[in-house]
Amino acid sequence: MGNSKRLFLGIELPPDCKTALRDLDPHLPGLRWVPGAQLHLTLSFLGDVEFSRQDILAQTLKDVRVPPFFLPLQDVGSFNARGRPSVVWVGVGKGHPHLFALHRHIQDAALRARLEPDLKPFQPHVTVARAKGISRQALQPFLRKHRDMEFGIFRVTEFTLFSSVLAHEAATHTVELRVAL
Ligand code: 2AM
Repeated sequence: MGNSKRLFLGIELPPDCKTALRDLDPHLPGLRWVPGAQLHLTLSFLGDVEFSRQDILAQTLKDVRVPPFFLPLQDVGSFNARGRPSVVWVGVGKGHPHLFALHRHIQDAALRARLEPDLKPFQPHVTVARAKGISRQALQPFLRKHRDMEFGIFRVTEFTLFSSVLAHEAATHTVELRVAL
């Protein structure tokens, strides 16, 4: 659409964490690994947002404040759809309380900007691969091998508003705004 952008909010990962996640790729048939540039933790998916609303959103996001916190990247699992893996993710351990507070404040900021954030329960994760036709049995040895493993820890000092452009199978993410905590 010409007067809107597809927006989402997330946390960027430092280069060493991205490298660790990229190196996890088992190169299994039916798994499309996410390129390093796209690795992130989604906090809120907003969908198409008109340009005029984006300025209001930028204002409400500036009020979001939680203390900076450390976040581990730990554990590997999959989301399934219709009995088959759809996404392979890396988790964030038990999930820091400040991460959940950040998510809540961001949802509030989106609602105050009169947007409609996805209000599904927050399951913090970093999507590392999209599954295309791989069976659960074929994926299981990889998941079992990496269960509970740690891939790094980093300090979250900001969050990011991204725009996303879909083209064929791939998406391009662009940083629109960074907000310091
Ligand atoms: P996920 O991959 O971490 O699950 C940018 O498109 C991000 O927004 C994606 O990485 C995805 O998060 C999330 N996302 C995309 N489409 C979505 C939708 N329709 N509903 C909820 N979240 C979505």
